[in-house]
Amino acid sequence: MTDEVSRNERIKEASDYLRGTLAQGLGEEITGAIAEDDQQLVKFHGMYLQDDRDLRPERTRKKMEKAFAFMIRVRVPGGVLAPQQWLALDRVARDYGNGTLRLTTRQTVQLHGVIKSNLKSTLRAIDAAVLNSIAACGDVNRNVMCGVTPEQSRAHAGALALARAISEHLTPRTPAYREIWLDGEKIAGGGDEVVEPIYGRTYLPRKFKTVVAVPPSNDVDVFAHDLGFIAIVDQAGKIAGWNITVGGGMGMTHGEPETYPRTADLLGFCDTKDALAIAEAVVTVQRDWGDRKNRKHARLKYTIEDRGLDAFRSEVEHRAKVKLAPAQPFQFTSTGDRYGWSDAGAGKAHLTLFVQTGRFADGAAVAQLSALRRIAKIHDGDFRITPNQNLIVANVPTEQQAQIEAIARDARLLAPWSGLRRNAMACVALPSCGLALAESERYLPDLIAALDDRLAAHGLSADDIVIRMTGCPNGCARPYLAEIGLVGKGPGRYNLYLGGAFDGSRLNKLYREDVDHAGIVAALDPVFAAYAGARQPGERFGAFTIRAGFITATRNGRDFHANTGPQRAA
Ligand code: HEM
Ligand code: SF4
Repeated sequence: MTDEVSRNERIKEASDYLRGTLAQGLGEEITGAIAEDDQQLVKFHGMYLQDDRDLRPERTRKKMEKAFAFMIRVRVPGGVLAPQQWLALDRVARDYGNGTLRLTTRQTVQLHGVIKSNLKSTLRAIDAAVLNSIAACGDVNRNVMCGVTPEQSRAHAGALALARAISEHLTPRTPAYREIWLDGEKIAGGGDEVVEPIYGRTYLPRKFKTVVAVPPSNDVDVFAHDLGFIAIVDQAGKIAGWNITVGGGMGMTHGEPETYPRTADLLGFCDTKDALAIAEAVVTVQRDWGDRKNRKHARLKYTIEDRGLDAFRSEVEHRAKVKLAPAQPFQFTSTGDRYGWSDAGAGKAHLTLFVQTGRFADGAAVAQLSALRRIAKIHDGDFRITPNQNLIVANVPTEQQAQIEAIARDARLLAPWSGLRRNAMACVALPSCGLALAESERYLPDLIAALDDRLAAHGLSADDIVIRMTGCPNGCARPYLAEIGLVGKGPGRYNLYLGGAFDGSRLNKLYREDVDHAGIVAALDPVFAAYAGARQPGERFGAFTIRAGFITATRNGRDFHANTGPQRAA
């Protein structure tokens, strides 16, 4: 750590509200990349400069520039998309991207493989569908998530309204996005102010993530996020107010124990009318109190660890001019999705599809991107991206249900039998992510097949067990909250974590370090066997691994790196 602010702070400060030299860089045909400082700024516009890592060795040999292309993350508050918007994204993916659409663990859609010369056309097509990618990445409030709980339509509507209001309120106001990508045209929902009334010139110290949860489902993983609102629903199914959570976060660095994942704390309870003021106050306190010298210590979770929850609460109450009430009782039961049909009332139903690792593509075996296009063309309800990288076809009238289900079945988009596969998530990792140390999206399906063999041997095939994998410790698929977490360490090697809670309320803990495929299967098989033989009625796998003494429970973030490793012989 130094006394100086970090390099990113100087880049933001000098950027003239996120402009930098992006406009000039787009016109430079000599390279598929952009200037180094602009690579930081372009994140605030929802893009990452990446290169195809599969092609690196060959291109290096041929002394060619890396195969640069951009990942574009679309902002989809609450994960709700109209069929026309889906069709527009599908078109863009085929015209300008790599022909696939990736649903993300934070309810957005990512396009991969967009080359620099196609960026403007891509963003204009996205804009024409009344979507944008502003603040989908960068040191700002990112896409606001909202639980999808299809069976609780009334509370969902209130939660979605709050998610959209927060998203709107905390979206950067700079006209830079419009100027650079859309040539000055006014974008949907954008303002004209040059200054940023909430963020100021240097935005936030680090990324900031907000979610709205509707119990009993914790599908949004509220404890993984900087700021959360948990709906407190009264007897009539109406929202009585919100519990507020602060200071959750996943990212850490291997070998640096001062970095750790952390579950959020309950801050208190507020009325709906005060929710926006509280959200803004949490953001501005973090803006002013967060660490701008060391980016590995800049998330809200560390601010709260350093200053204490009580001091943080007082400052939020002071700025919002709201006195928070004590948090109200609530109960979460799971983080997963409820697959298949669920009643939506008024003669309609929702169909939750299973989308393996969130990727829609037209592969050799099955054409899932095309199948979704067929559904979108006949569907006039909406789509909801779930926080588990799945998709809900929402509000399907009775007369269309058989047709939509048939398309989904043919495209293998209905949920599989395996309880492990139904509860799996993987980050993108290779070949696009520059930070990946190991495979994730391309490997997890095969690992699950191997683990399913073992689970079948113990009669556990249909048991819901949450497994999540990432290619590095940044934690994009929230692996530290899974019952089985796998985090890339190097090519083909992973750290294995056990003991997370099924409802997303407890972090897991390192069980085995640096294991390969065979090592993962060998480490888990005896734990599965013990679970099959000795679990109590209704006991979840994560809870069992602690009670049976395989692993010590993690109580909070600072405790994450303590007492690791197997605690009993398997
Ligand atoms: C310091 C930490 C992090 C860094 C530097 C980082 C960086 C990245 C990068 C470069 C990608 C693009 C990968 C690709 O699509 O090729 C990505 C994807 C993503 N990240 Fe992160 N990430 C971090 C932590 C997190 C955390 C903690 C979450 C969620 C709680 C998250 C959520 C996502 C999501 C939703 C995606 C999209 C792909 C997916 O669903 O896996 N990230 N991240
Ligand atoms: S967890 Fe790491 S490897 Fe996976 S997408 Fe995030 S940054 Fe990339």
